[in-house]
Amino acid sequence: MTVDFNDFLSYEAKLRKKSVMKMPKEGEISLTLGLPNPDCFPFKGIQLDIESPLTNFKSTEKINYNINSHPDQLIDSCQYMPSRGLKHFNLWIKNSYINKYFKPNYSNWNFLIQSGATQSLESIFRMLINPNEDTVLCESLTYSCFLETCIPLRIKVFSVEMDEFGLKPDYLDNLLLNWKINEKTKHSKFPKLIYVMPTGHNPTGITLSIERRKLLLDICNKHNILIVEDDPYYHLKLIDEDNNNSNIPSLLNFDTEGRVIRIDSFSKILMPGLRVSIITCNNLFIEKLSNHNELSIHSASANSQLILEMIFQKWGEDGFESWLKHLQSLYIKRRTIMLNSFDKFLPKDLVNYNRPNHGMFIWININLNKFFKLPKYSNLSDSDWARFIEDEIYKISSEKYKIVLTKGHWFLQDKDIALSSFRATYAFVTEEEMVKGAELFGLAVKDLYSSMYLTDSTD
Ligand SMILES: Cc1ncc(COP(=O)(O)O)c(C=O)c1O
Repeated sequence: MTVDFNDFLSYEAKLRKKSVMKMPKEGEISLTLGLPNPDCFPFKGIQLDIESPLTNFKSTEKINYNINSHPDQLIDSCQYMPSRGLKHFNLWIKNSYINKYFKPNYSNWNFLIQSGATQSLESIFRMLINPNEDTVLCESLTYSCFLETCIPLRIKVFSVEMDEFGLKPDYLDNLLLNWKINEKTKHSKFPKLIYVMPTGHNPTGITLSIERRKLLLDICNKHNILIVEDDPYYHLKLIDEDNNNSNIPSLLNFDTEGRVIRIDSFSKILMPGLRVSIITCNNLFIEKLSNHNELSIHSASANSQLILEMIFQKWGEDGFESWLKHLQSLYIKRRTIMLNSFDKFLPKDLVNYNRPNHGMFIWININLNKFFKLPKYSNLSDSDWARFIEDEIYKISSEKYKIVLTKGHWFLQDKDIALSSFRATYAFVTEEEMVKGAELFGLAVKDLYSSMYLTDSTD
């Protein structure tokens, strides 16, 4: 199917054209641009001290770029630059990153360096969505910042059911097939896109199987909707076996038409403070996003891109791979400690939790069969009851035991879903805090259970 991606653009994006300000052509004297002359830049060199693959990241080595050794890179990193990004960094991203890990399955794809996945998401929505008019789909549990982004952009959101393996493709197909007759959806416009996190999903940690990834593409092709693949946890693969080498394919790998808009971020695999991300998608969308950059951020920070370029040049592709393996082993260790602590301290009859193999999160469900609705709360709906239990556990955990987890309903698009859950992450805390945290959270759940069901308060 040939898709005209112009049909997906918002009114705002249609009005975005290339800026009249142009960089000078080769051999041309330009008296037009207000660029500072490089003599005015005080920045003449940079030295990084970076953990080294040569010692399996146990010690650091220095990387030096100065005005004599790398004049172009240094000056370019101080200057305004085309909204596209720093030249050498761009080349590395194309050849050693996208082509290596995610190469799209069609020819006119392109990519753009952006300032983090959060900024990328906002600019993608502004490119595609007309406020108060267009509709977007997401997984039933979704990244809370996605939901918060949709509010000021006035995007109507509907969610797609998930099970323990993630988004349910048959639910999505039926939702779209029956869109115009379903009472809940028929008054809303047919969705333009679905927002998904297929790997190490935030908040549940679930990774979508290859089979479901293919089905997702088939369904979106069939119904002509776009996919935004937000994948910051892609490289945090937490599989301890020896056969840890193959990566799960990105949705881009199955995209033959250009309908996947992939977001990569360096926040979780290097440093969030750099604020660097990549959008990979069809060329028209990249042009429009780039036009937007010209009049907003101009470009992602050139100094951040220089730092990344220096690291990648030093490490090389193999060194970067070794870094990912190193990071994975750190997270495998952390996840294992947290799961072992959960196994030891959480009451198995009152909660269950998953054992994710990507990312930073574990999803804990409170067993609502055990926390059944008490007669005195019979006026509460099932979803309000589930929320009440979640809130009570949160209150006891945070106030009595000083342990906080993220409330599950913060990730729910449809607040009528009856769910009482928590997201726990092993990313930041110390190993001791993980063990103690599990113990305290277990006590909080047991406290609530005994105060509600093992005393005389069941009237
Ligand atoms: C799914 C998802 N997308 C985006 C982000 C933010 O990424 P960035 O730091 O690149 O803005 C996060 C961070 O928590 C995330 O979980």
